Amino acid sequence: MSGKKRIVSGMRPTGALHLGNLHGALSNWISLQDQYDCFFFIADWHALTSDYEHPENIRRYSHDMMIDWLAAGLSPEKSTLFVQSEIREHAELFLLLSMITPVPWLERNPTYKDQIEQLSSRDLSTFGFLGYPVLQAADIIIYKADGVPVGIDQIPHIEITREIARRFNYLYTPIFPEPGAILTETAKVLGVDRRKMSKSYGNAIYLGDSPDTVRKTVASMITDPQRMKKTDPGDPSICNVFTFHKLYSDGSMVAEVDELCRTAGIGCVACKKKVAENLVSFLAPIREKIEYYRDHGKLVEEIMETGSKKAREVVRKTMEEVRAAIKIR
Ligand code: TRP
Ligand code: SF4
Repeated sequence: MSGKKRIVSGMRPTGALHLGNLHGALSNWISLQDQYDCFFFIADWHALTSDYEHPENIRRYSHDMMIDWLAAGLSPEKSTLFVQSEIREHAELFLLLSMITPVPWLERNPTYKDQIEQLSSRDLSTFGFLGYPVLQAADIIIYKADGVPVGIDQIPHIEITREIARRFNYLYTPIFPEPGAILTETAKVLGVDRRKMSKSYGNAIYLGDSPDTVRKTVASMITDPQRMKKTDPGDPSICNVFTFHKLYSDGSMVAEVDELCRTAGIGCVACKKKVAENLVSFLAPIREKIEYYRDHGKLVEEIMETGSKKAREVVRKTMEEVRAAIKIR
C-alpha cells in the first residue's frame, strides 16, 4: 500500500471518551493518519479479560467509542477502523502464539502485577488475563505492523510483542517484522479534582458534554491549591485550569492569564469562565458530529463493517503464511 509504513493500535472500549483520552491517544492517532497506513481497532476482547463478569456493556461501549473516534477526526477514508472481535483470526494467532510464549515472560510483566493490585475487587487470576500481552502481540503482528502508537504504560507489552515475533521467526519462518513503539508527547490533562482524568473517578469532561455541563464542570475545577484568596498571587504552572488554557485558548490569552494570575490581577472564577467558553467552542464541532452519528447508528455499523473487510483481507494472507510456516492445516 503506497509504501507507507503500517501502524496498528487498539483501545479498550470504555464508552464515551473524555478529554484525557482525546489528548492522550486519540489526537495522536488522528495526526498519524496521513503519514502511515493505519489500523485502529476497538479491543473488545481485551475488555473481557478484566470485565468478564459484566460483558453486557461492551458492545454499546464499542459503538459509542467508535462514534467519538469519528467525531474527533479519525477518518474511515484514511484509516482502517474496526472492532477486534470481528476479526476472528486475531484469536487463532493468539492461540498459536500462546504455544511458544514462556509463562515467565508474562508473569514478570509489570503491568500484570500492577493491574492485579489495582483491580483487587475482581478475580483476575485467569488464564486470559495472564495472556493479555499474547493477544495484544497477535493484534499487532497479524498486520505486520512497523509501529504501534501507545502510551508509556504499554511499553512492556510492545517489548513482549517483539520477543514473541522474534521467537516465531526463529522457530519457524521469518514472517513478522518486530514492531517498535511510537511514543508521542501528549498533554497530561488532569480531571477536575487534579487526579488522573478517569471515567471511574467521575472527574472527567466528555467530548459530547453539553455547553452547560462543560461550564459547570470547569467551574468546579480545583485550581492552584495554594491560592486561597483572589488577592493572593497564583502559580499557573501548577494549575490544571492553566493547562486547559494552553490547550484551548489562543496564545495571547494564555500569556495574559499567565501574567494576571501571577500578579493577582484575575480571580479563578473569571479565569475559568474564559477557558470554559474556549473549551465549549473547541468541542462544538465534535459534539455536533457525535449527535449526527448517534442519530445514524446504522452508518456507524457500516463504517465498522467496511473496516472489518479491509482488516480481514490482510489477516487472511498473514494466517496463510503462518499456517504454512507451522506446517499444519
Ligand atoms: N492494551 C492496550 C491498552 O490497554 C489496548 C490494546 C489491545 C492495544 N491491543 C493492542 C494497543 C494492540 C496497541 C496495539 O491500552
Ligand atoms: Fe489557575 Fe487561573 Fe486561578 Fe491562576 S487564575 S490559579 S491559572 S484558575
